[in-house]
Amino acid sequence: MEIIVVKNDQEGSEKAFEIIKAGLDNGEIKTLGLATGGTPLKLYAKMREAKLDVSDVSTVNLDEYVGLPADSPQSYHYYMEQELFSTLNFKETFLPNGMAEDLDAECDRYEQILADHPVDIQVLGIGTNAHIGFNEPGTPFSTKTHVVELTQETKDANKRYFEKEEDVPTHAVSMGIASIMAVKKVVLLAFGESKADAIQQMVEGPVTEDCPASVLQNHPNVTIIVDEAAASKLK
Ligand code: F6R
Repeated sequence: MEIIVVKNDQEGSEKAFEIIKAGLDNGEIKTLGLATGGTPLKLYAKMREAKLDVSDVSTVNLDEYVGLPADSPQSYHYYMEQELFSTLNFKETFLPNGMAEDLDAECDRYEQILADHPVDIQVLGIGTNAHIGFNEPGTPFSTKTHVVELTQETKDANKRYFEKEEDVPTHAVSMGIASIMAVKKVVLLAFGESKADAIQQMVEGPVTEDCPASVLQNHPNVTIIVDEAAASKLK
């Protein structure tokens, strides 16, 4: 794991942008893996400002809530449309369909999309409980795209986006740990003190399903970009 410690999220987002821009310029990135949440917002702003030509690039997203239509402002479809897809000319964009009637079939369909579009660089955030995607602690490392029941900790962290706590979805469709481990390169971003424990456990703790992100210790190509606050508990 390569760890880059930066002053703040602005600097971290610039570093991540440089990595992605270099991969686009040298043709390495044919499929870009994307995340939602607060962490990549400044990275996506930089990508918009740069008006990148991504007409031959496909994207796949990590996850989507179950039961939120694409035009719901809290859905990840909506987030991606706002943050990137309405501005940049990606060839094609894929997210899991959390509205599918048969969610198991949807998971299989999404795994096929991943097989057809091997991810060259995957942008990741990390939960305060060290989840990646929506793979909560205890998720087997062998898991592929699956339906997840969100933990209380994750619902609490995400309720800021919803009017009422009861509106936070209880389930999501997420790429699994095995689907994430299959990507060629991971760029994981974490900013702020609330991520410090998760980062410490991921980097210095044992590789265990209790700490989903720790699996990345076994991935051959991982760059972690953290600000000083998120890095503050590293030895
Ligand atoms: C988002 C995702 C999640 C987030 C994580 C951190 O697509 O899969 O794992 O990356 O919950 O969220 P933020 O960035 O809001 O702290």
